[in-house]
Amino acid sequence: MKQYLIKGPNKGVRGTIECDGSKNSCLPLLASSILFEDSIVLTNVPLVKDVLTMCNLLEELGAKVEISEKNKTIKITNKKKHKLVVPYKLISTMRAGALLMGALLGKYPKNKIFCAASGGCSLGARPTNFHIAGFKSLGAKYNLKNGYTILSAKNGLIGNTYKFPKVSVTGTCNLIMASVFAKKTTTILNASREPEVLDLISFLNNSSNSKFIKFTGKRTLQIRGIKKLIRGSHKVIGDRIAAFSYLCVGVITRGKIKVNNINPKHLPKELEVLKRMGCEIKTSNSSITVNAKKKLKPVSFKTNPWPEFATDNQPILMAVLTTVDGKSKIEENVFSQRFQAAPELNRLGASISIKRNTAIIVGQKKLYGAQCISSDLRSSFAIILGSIAAIGSSKVQRVYHNFRGYYQLPKKLKKLGINIKVIN
Ligand code: UD1
Repeated sequence: MKQYLIKGPNKGVRGTIECDGSKNSCLPLLASSILFEDSIVLTNVPLVKDVLTMCNLLEELGAKVEISEKNKTIKITNKKKHKLVVPYKLISTMRAGALLMGALLGKYPKNKIFCAASGGCSLGARPTNFHIAGFKSLGAKYNLKNGYTILSAKNGLIGNTYKFPKVSVTGTCNLIMASVFAKKTTTILNASREPEVLDLISFLNNSSNSKFIKFTGKRTLQIRGIKKLIRGSHKVIGDRIAAFSYLCVGVITRGKIKVNNINPKHLPKELEVLKRMGCEIKTSNSSITVNAKKKLKPVSFKTNPWPEFATDNQPILMAVLTTVDGKSKIEENVFSQRFQAAPELNRLGASISIKRNTAIIVGQKKLYGAQCISSDLRSSFAIILGSIAAIGSSKVQRVYHNFRGYYQLPKKLKKLGINIKVIN
């Protein structure tokens, strides 16, 4: 199995990185292709493993998928009716496959949709109970049989009001897609406002001749059912999690990194926290530059839905804080098990202690290379960051987690002068 071999310490890393399109935007956009009669074209797509898995799922359902790696585009054409069974073998590798439920139900409400139920994952329980409750509020019947979620609405879907008990990104995307062709108007309360959700909304609105989806309150979303969507094209937004990850390469090595192809407004809290630590931040409409001073300050922050600090960026900053003199504190409020990087960073010599949803990090002068295992996508980057700063060699195992969300990472890091190799 592939591993990364990283030799450190890398100090004062400087350079520019072109950020890829957002994986978490691309996945719902791809799922939404099911709603279209003809074809959609997405540009600025990140060709990471999760995106390729979603393409395989769409092919499995009968769509034609054309990928151009050179142009970073994906074209999806729907020639015939989709198959209505989303198989376990693909959905088990990627939770976002659950997005196909909303798209298939929205397009074929009167048929029976079978979707392999997604289970838990290494971040803790990842239920879809809110998604199902939302579909039911539109009139869908739900059953679970042989590990498959079965959905159908004999008389079609009818708009209604559904309030998410907790903000859910994929849940909001799923309910939007289910409501697109529902009769009357659907109102979603406590909706997610993550930039990736807004990206899906702007794609669907621009593909119709009316702005049929709109926010009427801070977290109140209205979807006025339309008759059909024929074709569409869209440029995927830059990836705010990848962008923050690359900025942190600059911060942990006390260097200077510029990330292009990213809207700084998508990371308001993250940039504020970096500034509080003493980093100098410069932004333009589509770039962020961080310049990290030698002496940074420890910091406390909490994760919460956007516009607060993203849970995905939490392990990344945690890695940086292991090198910042003093005591930092993190409160994780989105997932129950999002401190998986901590024991691995401790193997590099960090001092992180966890109590329930709080992590206390006492910054160390030095980290030392070690063999580590990544257990999820973002913790893999946290371990990579620790290894970049550590003295000596580190081996990072199970990097397939990393391939799920970072496009050509070793190539990008090598360009910055970091000593990283992929080994077997
Ligand atoms: C998405 C992102 C993921 C990010 C997360 C939170 C994608 C592909 N993934 O995941 O990277 O970390 O948002 O920003 O976009 N919940 C329930 N029942 C539900 C749905 C959610 O209890 O039916 C809970 C979850 O367990 C979690 C919280 O709600 O505690 C938020 O989860 P959610 O926003 O749904 O995460 P995802 O959309 O799966």
